[in-house]
Amino acid sequence: MEASLTYLLTLALLPLSLSLIIILRKRGSPGRNVPPGSGGWPVVGENVEFAMLGPQRFIKERMEKHSPEVFQTSILGEKMAVFCGAQGNKFLFTNDGKVLTSWWPESMKKALLFPEFYENSLKDVSALQRGFLHEILKPEALKQYIPAMDSLSREHMAADWHPNDVVKVFPLAKNYTFALACRLFMSISDPDHIKKLSDPFLLVTNGMFSVPIDLPGTAYNRAIKGGRMVRAELMRIITARRRELAAEERKETAAPAGRDLLSKMLLVRDENGRELSEMEISNNIIGMLVASYETTSSAVTFVLKHLADLPHVYDGVLKEQMEIAKTKGADELLTWEDIEKMKYSWNVARESLRVTPPAQGAFRETTTDCTFAGFTIPKGWKTFWTVHSTHKNPKYFPDPEKFDPSRFEGRGPAPYTFTPFGGGPRMCPGKEYARLEVLVFMYNVVTRFKLQRANPNENIVFHASPTPVEGLPVRLIPHQNIQD
Ligand code: HEM
Repeated sequence: MEASLTYLLTLALLPLSLSLIIILRKRGSPGRNVPPGSGGWPVVGENVEFAMLGPQRFIKERMEKHSPEVFQTSILGEKMAVFCGAQGNKFLFTNDGKVLTSWWPESMKKALLFPEFYENSLKDVSALQRGFLHEILKPEALKQYIPAMDSLSREHMAADWHPNDVVKVFPLAKNYTFALACRLFMSISDPDHIKKLSDPFLLVTNGMFSVPIDLPGTAYNRAIKGGRMVRAELMRIITARRRELAAEERKETAAPAGRDLLSKMLLVRDENGRELSEMEISNNIIGMLVASYETTSSAVTFVLKHLADLPHVYDGVLKEQMEIAKTKGADELLTWEDIEKMKYSWNVARESLRVTPPAQGAFRETTTDCTFAGFTIPKGWKTFWTVHSTHKNPKYFPDPEKFDPSRFEGRGPAPYTFTPFGGGPRMCPGKEYARLEVLVFMYNVVTRFKLQRANPNENIVFHASPTPVEGLPVRLIPHQNIQD
């Protein structure tokens, strides 16, 4: 219903948009050696091909047809240069902030941010806050949250896994990821309060990449409304917390150990003593929720898929995790020292991130004409780096379809070839959080159950992240000797 409404609206608006675009669009870039490729159809560009082929095939076919270094396409209504291979990644990661700046599709900005922010410069906002996010999400800062991650993971196993013979991993991983974020970011653990945030949040994630037509009934319209509701609730939470912190300060009571990320954001000051505004904090929290939700859930899901499919890999992980479990009492929670012992498990998780990367890549915009591999990328073009130009490329990963965690032993993959979290100054600030969440979850599943795919032929499709169409149903076979 929703899809057909969106489709009809698109068709209705197409003739108007077409004539406008044909009038407004600059035809090519005469006289400049721009990257080879195709702009596809007017208005729709190569969006349809991208959706039909999936990102991996779309990129591979164009690298073969146009250039293995950089090719042009038109997606999301923009002229775009897709940079490929280790050299392409290196160019984009090392030139960020020099000849490139951040760029996000309009539909995403409108669903996620306060109007004040998308009307003004998103670039300034993120530049101000990026360093701070890296600071509060760095390993030393996250160590204290490992027991809380383990504790929530155990609750989740007891409530949603143990009572069932078969579970659907992807939806459960999403529930867990969202609940964990609510607890660690804002100390929210009441299920009703989590639902108050998760219901509108799902409207945002379901609609932010849809056709940006803001009319009643469209997914995009619901995403904008959902975004407004999430922001309103976050503002209530942030204002209440600011008051609590001020009261704490007045009473001069000792700061509680292990503050959550919200309190850290409220207390941080830049070198001039400026604090983050409530809107900036709300933008940060919603940005972290969106950036972590699908990606980390997909990462957890595909690790478990590989463990179910590959018994020898499962056995290796089980051995490592049971050695850790044996050193602990029944109620003793995981610590940083335990995580540091999970070396093979992390290699397995990394190989899973290589084979089924949760994020496809990221956009930038050129701030000046620039040259790469003999081609000119004009000022104002959008650029895209993508995991799909290296992760399955036999030049960097021999026998690329083979699942082989030993690729990460020793010096590991060559620089700029393994990029699930990006690279350079904009590399994902949540990569350590994701690592901890995945490892803690692996520990809790593997030490309890053996896994069997309920449908080994289930299809995988690409939404924002790779998604098993049935949610990855797996049969749980509990280990007899493990007690909760
Ligand atoms: C397996 C899970 C994850 C994957 C694969 C992933 C991947 C990525 C990628 C590829 C980018 C874009 C980098 C670029 O622009 O070049 C990114 C950005 C970002 N990620 Fe993650 N991410 C994950 C989990 C998380 C988590 C758990 C958080 C927060 C707790 C997070 C927060 C962010 C933020 C805030 C950005 C934007 C950074 C900026 O623009 O400067 N991510 N992530």
